[in-house]
Amino acid sequence: MSSGKSLVTGAAGFLGSHVCDCLLERGEKVIAVDDLSGGFAVNVPADVEWVKGDVSDHLFVRNLWNDHGPFNRIYHLAAYAAEGLSHFIRRFNYTNNLVASVNLLNETVKHGCECFVFTSSIAAYGSAQPPMREDTTPIPEDPYGIAKYAVELDLKSAHEMWGLNSVILRPHNVYGERQNVMDPYRNVVGIYLRCALEEKPFPVFGDGGQTRAFSYVGDVAPLIAETGFREDCFNEIFNVGSDEVNTVKHLAELIAEEFEVELDIEWLEERVEAKHAYSDHSKLDMFFPDCSRTSLKEGISRMSDWVRRNGLWEASFPQQVEVAKGLPDSWRKLLSSPS
Ligand SMILES: NC(=O)c1ccc[n+]([C@@H]2O[C@H](COP(=O)([O-])OP(=O)(O)OC[C@H]3O[C@@H](n4cnc5c(N)ncnc54)[C@H](O)[C@@H]3O)[C@@H](O)[C@H]2O)c1
Repeated sequence: MSSGKSLVTGAAGFLGSHVCDCLLERGEKVIAVDDLSGGFAVNVPADVEWVKGDVSDHLFVRNLWNDHGPFNRIYHLAAYAAEGLSHFIRRFNYTNNLVASVNLLNETVKHGCECFVFTSSIAAYGSAQPPMREDTTPIPEDPYGIAKYAVELDLKSAHEMWGLNSVILRPHNVYGERQNVMDPYRNVVGIYLRCALEEKPFPVFGDGGQTRAFSYVGDVAPLIAETGFREDCFNEIFNVGSDEVNTVKHLAELIAEEFEVELDIEWLEERVEAKHAYSDHSKLDMFFPDCSRTSLKEGISRMSDWVRRNGLWEASFPQQVEVAKGLPDSWRKLLSSPS
């Protein structure tokens, strides 16, 4: 059992709330932060101390340390992770995903910590040839991936300047219980579950032949939590997720089958995105040989049970974009009045 204190940002979100659970299980005291811009209060585990606020506000972040610090570990998961939409909400993306990270990094450097754990993304690789390895040169191609990679570089620089230890995780397409299934711009598994529940057509961009390795949260969150305690992981980068590669169309078929509905696809024009994105996990396997691997079918079945039990929740997501040029028509229809 540990007796340290961790700060978890994005704790009302999907991955962050599961990471909180893993930390609590090992006896860690958890200060959980979220502004509820994309998460749900009900996700925040009861045994954490929750501080509601926006980490892109540097005064809020400074007060976090004044009121609750110092922290042994920082798990920074707060972000708005809508890769495709990030082209059209650049300012919001960089404020939330880059500047907010810098606010946390500044305070961490001032006060010190054992390790800063950062959830980057497979988006840092851009459309490099899969499977992406940690030594593949990242060439992010959208503002979301660029923000993630910028934070990675900033952490590296902070290590060289001040010896700050960090772990960078690059998860991909994680799904599971507590995920926001209401946001039309992200989380394709969640979008299809909602369509199945509401008996609506499943939107598919292009021919649905895009390949992804959808990864179950129960396999991913414990690893994120664990890396903050493992000195052999410090200052390392890890791809995290499943090795089971599937097309988006197959995902739609699986979900329709799970809900016993006839698959009705709404074919949409192809959008700008990496056609194939999945990672090599041999490095992770070396460090964590016993990590769990849930099949997509099993993971979908667990998440579907959760959605059926909990129903659909009201959720907030961007109602406007900053630049509407090139916005897919299916998204344009959702927005109040794109300029
Ligand atoms: N889910 C995935 O497939 C995946 C893949 C790669 C990387 N990631 C990264 O993992 C992290 C968690 O993702 P998730 O899927 O759980 O998303 P999520 O939206 O469920 O959780 C993010 C949480 O951060 C909160 N948040 C956002 N901006 C904030 C701000 N400025 N201040 C305070 N709280 C804020 C939101 O309210 C939300 O609860 C993100 O950094 C994301 O980029 C996720």
